[in-house]
Amino acid sequence: MRILIQAPEADAWREALTARLEPAIEGVEVLTAERDGLLPADYLVVWKPDEALFEAQNGRLRAVFNAGAGIDALLANPSLPAEVPIVRLRDAGMGEMMGDYLLYATLHFHRNLDRYRLDQAAQRWAEQPLEEKSAWPVGILGLGTLGRVAGDCLRARGYPVKGWSRTRKTFEGIESFHGEAGLAAMLEGSRVLFNLLPETPETRGLLDEAQLRCLPRGAVVVNAGRGATLVPEALIRLLDEGHLRGAMLDVFPEEPLPADHPLWSHPKVIVTPHVAAPTPVGPAAEQVARDLLALERGETVPFCPR
Ligand code: OXD
Repeated sequence: MRILIQAPEADAWREALTARLEPAIEGVEVLTAERDGLLPADYLVVWKPDEALFEAQNGRLRAVFNAGAGIDALLANPSLPAEVPIVRLRDAGMGEMMGDYLLYATLHFHRNLDRYRLDQAAQRWAEQPLEEKSAWPVGILGLGTLGRVAGDCLRARGYPVKGWSRTRKTFEGIESFHGEAGLAAMLEGSRVLFNLLPETPETRGLLDEAQLRCLPRGAVVVNAGRGATLVPEALIRLLDEGHLRGAMLDVFPEEPLPADHPLWSHPKVIVTPHVAAPTPVGPAAEQVARDLLALERGETVPFCPR
């Protein structure tokens, strides 16, 4: 059996998968596209793969493992075979990292670090009023595994957590909303809005000016889902008007963010280069190996809807 990897840190993936699969599958070959070429394989482990990788397959491919949580880039690959199942990373250590990113952003604004940064530049020594955490509800858009783990992280630090999903989902300790009507209701009660939605035709442009205006005055927006969900011009307008207090953005409609984009220099915006939850190879390879072995035993694993 051959497993071919085309993803960042491919050598680390190769080592981690070899260590887990060699004892279980006799004669397994774990190769990387970079070293070994675009070979036909039984399983691919990929992140934003070349079209030529799929073109090199000869019909024996049993599944494609996506080395990340979002499969939008994979689905946009015109050579992706229609019939091959896709398995994505579900948590694999990324939920906790999303939680850390969200906690950092929440503390930045709740603890007034945005204001203290300006005060420092002006050599102004002035204590800002500190509100209770209960006055800083965090609303999470997208209650998949990453959203739930991130929500639990904020809850554990004492912030009220709300969550929105397209269809009804309930989780202990998270005030849940769903559907179109639920979205406005959640936004109205969120001081921090954290977007973790995947990119789909329904989510593209979802956070436009009308939706962002539903957030209370002084709210902040954190985006670590997909850039296409948030309309940057609408965000900038509401920041400039003073309706929104700030934003911390990790994802953008075009990445890298173009050099002349106004978000780079906006004083109320923190820009990070799509690093909120980089795939940790160890836990990710653990999930891929577990799922691959389950498939080999004829068991089911959660395939992504196409
Ligand atoms: C992912 C990402 O989808 O890093 O995992 O964007």
